[in-house]
Amino acid sequence: MGATTYAGLASLLVALYIWYRKTSTTPSSASLPPGPKPVPLLGNIRDLTTKELWLPASQWAKQFGDVTYLHVLGQGLVFLNSPEAAFDLLDKRGSIYSDKPQLVMVGDLCGCKHMVAFTGYGDESKRQRRLMHKAFGLGAIPSYHPLISTQTNTFLRRLITSPTEYVAHTRRYAGGLTLNVVYGYEAKSNNDPFLSLAEECVNLLSNKIASGGGIWPVDVFPALQHMPDWMPGSGFKKNARVWKAKMEEFVDAPYEFVKESMKSNNYQPSFCSTLLEDETAQATEDFEFNLKWAANSMYSASADTTMTTVSHFLLAMMQHPEVLLKAQKEIDAVVGDERLPEFADRERLPYLDAILSETWRWGVPVPLNLPHRLMEDDVYRGMHIPKGSLVFGNIWAIVRDERIYPNADAFDPERFLRSDLDEETKRKMNPRNYVFGFGRRLCPGNNLVESSIWLLLACMIATLDISKARDETGKVVEPEVKFENPIFRIPNPFKCDIRPRSERALRLIRESEIL
Ligand code: HEM
Repeated sequence: MGATTYAGLASLLVALYIWYRKTSTTPSSASLPPGPKPVPLLGNIRDLTTKELWLPASQWAKQFGDVTYLHVLGQGLVFLNSPEAAFDLLDKRGSIYSDKPQLVMVGDLCGCKHMVAFTGYGDESKRQRRLMHKAFGLGAIPSYHPLISTQTNTFLRRLITSPTEYVAHTRRYAGGLTLNVVYGYEAKSNNDPFLSLAEECVNLLSNKIASGGGIWPVDVFPALQHMPDWMPGSGFKKNARVWKAKMEEFVDAPYEFVKESMKSNNYQPSFCSTLLEDETAQATEDFEFNLKWAANSMYSASADTTMTTVSHFLLAMMQHPEVLLKAQKEIDAVVGDERLPEFADRERLPYLDAILSETWRWGVPVPLNLPHRLMEDDVYRGMHIPKGSLVFGNIWAIVRDERIYPNADAFDPERFLRSDLDEETKRKMNPRNYVFGFGRRLCPGNNLVESSIWLLLACMIATLDISKARDETGKVVEPEVKFENPIFRIPNPFKCDIRPRSERALRLIRESEIL
């Protein structure tokens, strides 16, 4: 190593130290929440290297209690590990806990700062969320039922044709449903250009741009964004330019499709077209800009969350054939074998509802929520939480809490059907209170997926047998379950045997084609 490199390293360390001292002073006499011991200067950087961060975060919860604090170079990270702590702060104190980190790399250089999940707490995020609420509020959902049924039938047909491609079919279902609902666009094949673009961009977002919580060195030292392209270490700028162009295409292309089809008066009603025709919505500030980004945000948010839900459902059914059998009996008794389940059947299928609840609890799609940024210094239960901290609702720790869910690692839908549960316990156990996030940033797609995933599971249970795959010698192949995505808990593709339950079921799926 040359002298210049040593000098460079030394000045970087000095700058880091000055910055660390500047950001780590606590103005309050209350002490920080407990957490694993940091090392000088770098803080807890070594505690944060694992991809499944929710696993160590939940060990810290057991060791340190409801609120855990770590820092990396002075940037505070707070984990809220119980329903009480998450609601007290993210919900009841939502006016200061609903901001998002303003990240130079993700927001500015890659152009994602207008995507709802990344917009700071203020007028823009409120306007976008209002538009989404208009389209996906509880009252609006029944108008999507026909679309949801069509997409579900299409998914079933594809699944029985090539069951080993369940990942591609699920992505196409999620992407196709959102494209349909949001843009009125009908995806033509698994390789549809909009679906491929979405998959590429969602993958870019969660595995590259926002991987590791989206914090890049340039977020710690914003001046790095001005370094010349020829300088070693400036490669992130080149990547950002390529990624930004892709993300812009992802926002513009489907939106332009809606506008073009509306011009030619040949379009299917959708979130975009409905709002483009709504004069009161149009009168709001920056209407088209907000609409375009709100639409894209929904598209981005639906694919991976649906993928985790379906994958965990398959895993649970493979590992618990008795659950699948019991659910099939319930559906047979209520629906019969002359038709597929419909929304009107829902009230009479409590076991199926319990399976959906348990799938979301056991297979929690976003285990650490998305981080919220604290806008002011705060004191909670005598602990000082510094302004600017990134606050994670530790959903994983909550839905694995043995005090709320005894034998929490087991997949057990019966836990929701116990007759001795009072209303308060039932409310506390309902995973929907946690898995969609908290307070003013709560997932705006929750009502939509409550319907769409319900029908998907109902139809899969009604028509399919799902079991572990077998090799050529007939030996059972145990599914290999690995998680590599740091934000969404999506198992890598695994082997699985999916086939129609009976000749009658096969006919029902095929007949649904001509509905
Ligand atoms: C099983 C399915 C889903 C789950 C478990 C889920 C979960 C979540 C969670 C945990 C958050 C973060 C909330 C917070 O910051 O407190 C979120 C945000 C979001 N979700 Fe979902 N989601 C699902 C499906 C969807 C769908 C289908 C859409 C759109 C149609 C959607 C749109 C969004 C958007 C736009 C945000 C950002 C909200 C904001 O920051 O203000 N999600 N979701």
